[in-house]
Amino acid sequence: MTKPATSAVIFGVGPRQGVGAELCFQASARGLHVFALGRTQEKIEAVTKAIEAEGGSATPLLADVTNVKQVEAAFAQIEADGRPLELAIYNAGNNRPEAFLDVTPEVFEEMWRVICFGGFVAAQATLRLMLNQQDSAPKQSLLFTGASGSLRGKAGFSAFAAGKSALRMMVQSIAREYGPQGIHVGHVVIDGMIEGEKVRSQWSDYLDSKGEDGALNIRAIADAFFALHEQHRTAWTQELDIRPFKEEF
Ligand SMILES: NC(=O)c1ccc[n+]([C@@H]2O[C@H](COP(=O)([O-])OP(=O)(O)OC[C@H]3O[C@@H](n4cnc5c(N)ncnc54)[C@H](OP(=O)(O)O)[C@@H]3O)[C@@H](O)[C@H]2O)c1
Repeated sequence: MTKPATSAVIFGVGPRQGVGAELCFQASARGLHVFALGRTQEKIEAVTKAIEAEGGSATPLLADVTNVKQVEAAFAQIEADGRPLELAIYNAGNNRPEAFLDVTPEVFEEMWRVICFGGFVAAQATLRLMLNQQDSAPKQSLLFTGASGSLRGKAGFSAFAAGKSALRMMVQSIAREYGPQGIHVGHVVIDGMIEGEKVRSQWSDYLDSKGEDGALNIRAIADAFFALHEQHRTAWTQELDIRPFKEEF
């Protein structure tokens, strides 16, 4: 593989069978140097080592997306690398279905911190760097992972939906502000359950009850992100919703 000339950063990289890791592999397959940012060293290193074993190039960045100083330190590394940042994807998220009266103030606030505030921290760091690199970057995209809760507050998902819907509005606002400056800001609504390690390890029976192709495949999800990134700037999509063919909506 030839040495990548530009880079991508994925915020929220976890297990191999997850959206964050899959985005890293697909960015590498498209010739980008990958910065895999996550809060668990072993997980991000497993991803970057596997990318390098396949002939790609990748750097693990240990940071909690809710910690401004840690994200700034990670961006100092991205900037020092010298390759223009072409793509940033904010994928960090958590979920915890719970009856509304059982949601503690601490859980509510922590969910919002990871889902929404982290997106704000990541977006500011990304936009500052991208604006400085506009002469050298061939194209620039800043994309976000949404969920059903971005659009609808289902019973038992109050904290999650509050965070995801707020993130969606922030993304719309920055898309309108930075689109005219040449940065494609997009949001992908994943409207269904993901066939990945997070769900498999916690809700295996529910996942199986969905039947064949009843949950979103992580490769197909990553394809949707790269379809947005690869769009010509005369035909940009701001928001894309994706769901399994048999999912009700
Ligand atoms: N799973 C679903 O069915 C589903 C459905 C619709 C939408 N989504 C959304 O899709 C995205 C990906 O979900 P996924 O289940 O496939 O997970 P994933 O991409 O495999 O993992 C996301 C990673 O984000 C990391 N993360 C969480 N909090 C963080 C923080 N404060 N700082 C840095 N990293 C942090 C976690 O790291 P650790 O593993 O180290 O904790 C986790 O592994 C999320 O935004 C989620 O809300 C998921």
